[in-house]
Amino acid sequence: MNLHSRRAFNQKLLGSLMTYGLIETLFQRDLLAEPMKPVVHQWLADLHELSAEVKNQKIKDVDFQAKLEDLYKKVELSELIKLLDLDRVAKDVKFPARGAANLGIDLSKVEGLPQRLVFGKQIFAMQKDRSIVPHGHDNMCTGFIVLRGEFNGKHYDRVEDRADSYLIKPTLDRDFKPGECSTVSDHKDNVHWFKAISDTAFIFNIHITGYNPENKKPANRVYVDPDGEKLQGGTIVAKKMTSSECHKKYG
Ligand SMILES: [Fe+2]
Repeated sequence: MNLHSRRAFNQKLLGSLMTYGLIETLFQRDLLAEPMKPVVHQWLADLHELSAEVKNQKIKDVDFQAKLEDLYKKVELSELIKLLDLDRVAKDVKFPARGAANLGIDLSKVEGLPQRLVFGKQIFAMQKDRSIVPHGHDNMCTGFIVLRGEFNGKHYDRVEDRADSYLIKPTLDRDFKPGECSTVSDHKDNVHWFKAISDTAFIFNIHITGYNPENKKPANRVYVDPDGEKLQGGTIVAKKMTSSECHKKYG
């Protein structure tokens, strides 16, 4: 087939597709529009699938942590920021005098996400020198990714629960830039503390509660004081605190 006849053939084919309404059908079924779907929507669907796996005990929590960090590292941060409408959030936020503002997120418009999500989600926003205060969790997996600003982030393993304290062991202490992430589960890095070191700073967070049938405690935060007696082997006796005590000292 020469060029002329191929062009004529294509025009004829296109004409008959239009005649029979096949092109419209393809558009209606979203097949041709599929490549236009934002990548971040698929990323959130992947996040949901992974969260369901740990919630339903299909994977171990420590493996979930590694996979969540892999997923966080893959996200196009500018797309996530746009989806979360961070510019508006940053304009409207009322920063608390101590601690972090906890801001809700609406993901109901995201394609491919069920209306009932397995994970909870929020943005934490704070001003310089204010903190997401040192705390651990029960029956919860959670992960942070820095959206904007910089933090000093610390994690500790929660080695032992005692009557008035927790035995904790430092596992991580470094600065975090946008796009950097960290995770928590009942079995690894189960105390975290993030302090803003830029004028303002924003973290995105997801969390999955009630995933560990062996942990009978309610899925609450437990506040700790890492400024405690240091024992041999690097552990710290971290006193239990109330939220207000912890925010007074560290918020
Ligand atoms: Fe937390």
